[in-house]
Amino acid sequence: MSIVDQTRQDDILVLSINNPPVNAFSPGVPEGLKAGLDAAAADDSIRAVVIIGSGRTFVAGADIKTFNMPREQAPDLRGTVEKLDGFAKPTVAAIHGTALGGGLELALACTYRVATPDAQLGLPEVKLGVLPGAGGTQRLPRVVGAARGLEMMLSGNPVRAAEARALGLVDELIEGSDLLAGAVAFARAHADARPLPRISERSVEGGPEVFAAAREGIKKTHRGQLSPSLIIDLAEMAATRPFQEGWEAEAVKFMQAKDSPQSRGLRHIFFAERESAKIPGLGKDTPTTEIRSAGIIGAGTMGGGIAMNFLNAGIPVTIVETAQEALDRGLGVIRKNYENTARKGRMTLEDVEKRMGLLTPSLNMEDLADADIIIEAVFENMDVKKEIFTKLDAIAKPGAILATNTSTLDVNEIASVTGRPEDVIGLHFFSPANVMKLLEIVRADKTSDRVLATSMALARKIKKVGVVVGVCDGFVGNRMIHRYGDEARRIVEEGASPQDVDASMNALGLPMGPFQMSDMAGLDIGYAIRQHQAKVRGNPKPDGWLDRIVELGRKGQKTGAGIYDYDEARKPRPNAEIAQLIETYRAEKGVTPREITQEESTKRLAYSLVNEGAKILEEGIAQRAGDIDVIYIYGYGFPAYRGGPMQYASEQGLQNVVADLEKYGQTPAPLLRRLAEEGKTFADYDREKAQQASA
Ligand code: 3HC
Repeated sequence: MSIVDQTRQDDILVLSINNPPVNAFSPGVPEGLKAGLDAAAADDSIRAVVIIGSGRTFVAGADIKTFNMPREQAPDLRGTVEKLDGFAKPTVAAIHGTALGGGLELALACTYRVATPDAQLGLPEVKLGVLPGAGGTQRLPRVVGAARGLEMMLSGNPVRAAEARALGLVDELIEGSDLLAGAVAFARAHADARPLPRISERSVEGGPEVFAAAREGIKKTHRGQLSPSLIIDLAEMAATRPFQEGWEAEAVKFMQAKDSPQSRGLRHIFFAERESAKIPGLGKDTPTTEIRSAGIIGAGTMGGGIAMNFLNAGIPVTIVETAQEALDRGLGVIRKNYENTARKGRMTLEDVEKRMGLLTPSLNMEDLADADIIIEAVFENMDVKKEIFTKLDAIAKPGAILATNTSTLDVNEIASVTGRPEDVIGLHFFSPANVMKLLEIVRADKTSDRVLATSMALARKIKKVGVVVGVCDGFVGNRMIHRYGDEARRIVEEGASPQDVDASMNALGLPMGPFQMSDMAGLDIGYAIRQHQAKVRGNPKPDGWLDRIVELGRKGQKTGAGIYDYDEARKPRPNAEIAQLIETYRAEKGVTPREITQEESTKRLAYSLVNEGAKILEEGIAQRAGDIDVIYIYGYGFPAYRGGPMQYASEQGLQNVVADLEKYGQTPAPLLRRLAEEGKTFADYDREKAQQASA
C-alpha cells in the first residue's frame, strides 16, 4: 500500500489516502494526490475522481508536526488545493470520520462532497493559533455564508454531516456501510456536469454588520489572541474582494499566525495533552477494570461535583454522608445544578431525572461494598481520612479502587492503613469538579499498574484530562500555586496594590489573578495552612498583611468580602480600608513602598511557578514539563495560547528567566539553571527524557 493508492473502478479513478492514524496531510500525501490527478487527466477513459481516506477517517488536517519545517520542505497542501480547483474533470471527496482543517479545505476544493451520516466537518485551526491556510477562509463563507462561516472558524467546532448537508457543505449523505460505492456512483452520475461548479466562483452572503459583530465578539471570547482577528479580516476579504486576492492574503496571514508564540503554545499543548496520557513503563496492554459503579464519601461541594461526572457518564453512584441533613443538602445542590443546565437548554428535564435516578443516597458506608471504585471526598484531615480508609478496607470488595480526593495530604500514609495499598490512589479533582477538566492522578509508592491504568481510562470516560503525578505536599498544581501565592503577597508587601498584581496576571491572559483566585477559593484555607505550618516548624504565628485581612473576618467571596469587596454580581471592588491596612503593615515592617511595573509583577509571578515546576520535574513528581503545562491550563486557567507556564518560560528564553529570578531575589532551581546554561528549552528536556526512556 502506498501513501496514496490509485485504483480504477471502470471510468472512475479512486485515490485512497493511507496515512494512519488520522490521514494527516504529511509529506507524500500531496505528491500522491497530484500524481493521481495527473494520471486521471492523462487518461480519456477516466471521467471523474473520488478522493477517500482509508482507515478510521478522511483527512484530519495538515500534519501539525510539519509546522516547524522550512516552508519549501513542508507538504504542499495549497498546491494540491489549487490543482484540484483547476481540475477539468469532476472530483468527489468521500468523507467519513472527520474532515478537519486542511482535510475540509481539500474537500472544498473538490467539485462535490459526499459523507457518511456520522462524519464531522470543521475548520479547527483557531484552536492551534492558526487559520485555515489552504483556502478555507475564502471557500467556507462562499458555501455557508459569512456569519455561519465565521462562527465555525472562530469556534473551531465541527458540524455533523446532517447539518453540513443542510448548509450545502455536503452534496449527498451516503447511508449504509459502503461509502466508496456510494461515492463512485455519485461521481458517475455527475461525470458529465459542465461547466463544473466551483466554490471559488461563488459570492459570499453577509454584509459589513457580520464582520463588525464578529470583531466585537472576539473581544470577549478570544481576548489577546492573534488568529481570530486575522480570520475575520480574511472572511471579509472573501466577501468583498476577488477570490484570488483573498487566497493570496490568506497565505501571508497563515504564516504570520503559524510563526507566532501563541500558535507555538497551542501546538505544544495539543501534543502535550496527548503525551500526558502516556505513562512510561505502563504498556498499552496493561489490564484495566471496568468501572460500572462508584461510591463517593462526602456530599459536600467536592463530593457532589465528583458524583456528577459519573452520573453524566451513565455510571451509578452511591453517595455517603454522616448526617441526613448533609445528604439532603448535597443531593439538593446536584439537582439544582442539573436543573440550571436544563433551564439553559443544554439538557432536558428527562435527562435530569435520568441522572438523578442513577444516584443512591446513603448514611451507611457498608452500602459501598459492591462499588468498583470508591472516592473519599471529605475535608483535609489525615486522621479522618485514615479512619475512613481503615473502614473501607473492611467493606470494599476485593479489587475495588480506593481513591482519595486529597489535594495536599500524603497518599502513601493514607494507603498504609489498608491491607491493600496497591489498590489505593489519589484522584485530585478541581473545583467545581463537574466543570474543571483536570484530574491529577496521584500515583502512590505501591499503587498497582492496573489501578493506574484504570484511573487513566476512567478519566477519559468521564471526559477529564488525567495527568499522573507523584506524592508530595500539594502534588504538582497546588505545590506550584503556593509559591505563586507567596510571591504575590511579597509583591504587595514591596509596594504594589493587590489589584495591580491581579491585573499583571490578567495581562498574561489569566481570567483571575492570584488575589481574585484566593478570594474565590476562600482566604481561610491558606490562612489555616500558614498557621499550621508555622506551628509545626516552631515559627512565630504568621502576621502577614493577608493574615490580618482574614482576622477581620473577611474570608473572600463566601463572606461577601476578602481582599476585595463583592457586590451581588460577585464583581471585585478594591476597598480603601484594605489599602490602608496594607500601608500600615508596610510602615510597621519598615518597608518603603516602591513602584513595581506590571512587567516585573508578571514575570515574578509566572517565574515563581516555573521555578517550582523545575524542582517538581527534577524530583520526578511530574513526568514531563508538558504535563505541568497541561495541569496549569486545565486546572488553573493559564491561557492555552501561552502553552502553559513551562512553555511560556521557554518562549522567554530560560537564560532570561534565570537572570530575572536572580534579579528579583529568588534562587533558580538547578534544572532550570542547567537548561539555561545549555541553551535548551523544557521541550528539549522532555524530548531527551523520552529518548532515554525508549533507548
Ligand atoms: N497532525 C499531526 N498529528 C495528528 C494530527 C494532525 N493534524 N491530528 C492527530 N494527530 C495525531 C495525534 O497527535 C495522535 O498521535 P499519538 O497517537 O502519537 O499521540 C494521533 O494522531 C491520534 O490523535 P488523537 O489521540 O487526538 O485521536 P482522536 O481519535 O481522539 O481524535 C482527531 C482524532 C479528532 C482527528 C484529533 O486528533 C484532532 O482534533 N486532530 C487535530 C485536527 C486539526 O486540528 N486539524 C487542523 C490542523 S491545522 C491545518 O489543517 C492547517 C491548514 O489549514 C493549512
